[in-house]
Amino acid sequence: MPFADGLADFRSDTVTRPTAAMRRAMAEAEVGDDVYAEDPTVNRLEEEAAELLGKDAAVFVPSGSMGNQLGIWVQTRPGDEVICVEDAHIRNYELGAGAIVSSVQFRTIAAVGGAMAEQDIRRAASGSSYHLPRLGLLAWENSHLGSGGRVVPLPAMQAGKAIADEFGLGVHLDGARLFNTVAASGIAPAEWGATVTTVQFCFSKGLGAPVGSILCGPADLIDEARWRRKVLGGGMRQVGVLAAPARIALAERDRLAEDHALAASLAAGLADRFPGAVDVDTVETNIVLVDEAELPFGAGVMVPALAAEGILLGDLRPGVLRFVTHRDVDADDVRRVFAVLDGLGNG
Ligand SMILES: Cc1ncc(COP(=O)(O)O)c(C=O)c1O
Repeated sequence: MPFADGLADFRSDTVTRPTAAMRRAMAEAEVGDDVYAEDPTVNRLEEEAAELLGKDAAVFVPSGSMGNQLGIWVQTRPGDEVICVEDAHIRNYELGAGAIVSSVQFRTIAAVGGAMAEQDIRRAASGSSYHLPRLGLLAWENSHLGSGGRVVPLPAMQAGKAIADEFGLGVHLDGARLFNTVAASGIAPAEWGATVTTVQFCFSKGLGAPVGSILCGPADLIDEARWRRKVLGGGMRQVGVLAAPARIALAERDRLAEDHALAASLAAGLADRFPGAVDVDTVETNIVLVDEAELPFGAGVMVPALAAEGILLGDLRPGVLRFVTHRDVDADDVRRVFAVLDGLGNG
């Protein structure tokens, strides 16, 4: 459903607005004081999430960043290194939180589509010695934002888990968009969950809830994360009003396949018009990247032209534009994009 004000907002899947059913659920939510673990709606959400991911327990948190940072914090000691891809969200887009909160540093691995190669992980893990920082954690991101929402294949993560077990490392998954990965791969959440120790996923991205993320994992680590969430000021009270729409978002997760189909049609239409600007083979979920250098009308033309017609898009990095599909854009919005671009192409 597009926005009532006619805006077609492709900047991110974080821009979705709560549906009528979510708003009703918020109004009617049964609540209690969640710091006392007495909010029944939060408790239900945590149980559902943990079960879905095949984990003992889960803790509801205000944001994906807090879920990730708690996952890191409970599994590392100050000075540890966290192995991750070069453009991992936890390293690049969480404002240095790994250093501030957990006093860790990141050891990055170059990877295509967020999939670190087995031999590179092994090299990083086995290179550890008395003269080097201690390794604390292996971290994945799936789907992988930096490559346009690509799915890190399950066997890559299974191989990572085997190496981590061998070297006594924990494994964390930044699954901000894990359910996009689930929808695209057809592989059940618990299978992904089995490849990691802790997993964070967001209700407030493609799933469409207004707020919230959750960290799932073993009972002792989640107990510790609950305590540290309070340290960070993230202990929330009658937060069932936010857990209620999150439960709806989770129950409706299968609709993410529609976002993927829309992204595929957008990518195909862009690739037809501007060969070389979009690699359709890499559009696996809800993100379409556009190489501005390959556009016939030059950089800096497309964004304002679309904005003038109420169509917003974002940029992933300089020179790379991004369209993200979600429940509040539809096929009409994609047609509007093509109409504006066809006008530019002719003009
Ligand atoms: C891959 C990834 N991880 C983590 C986050 C952090 O989520 P939040 O904005 O809720 O802190 C985001 C947010 O865009 C993300 O894209």
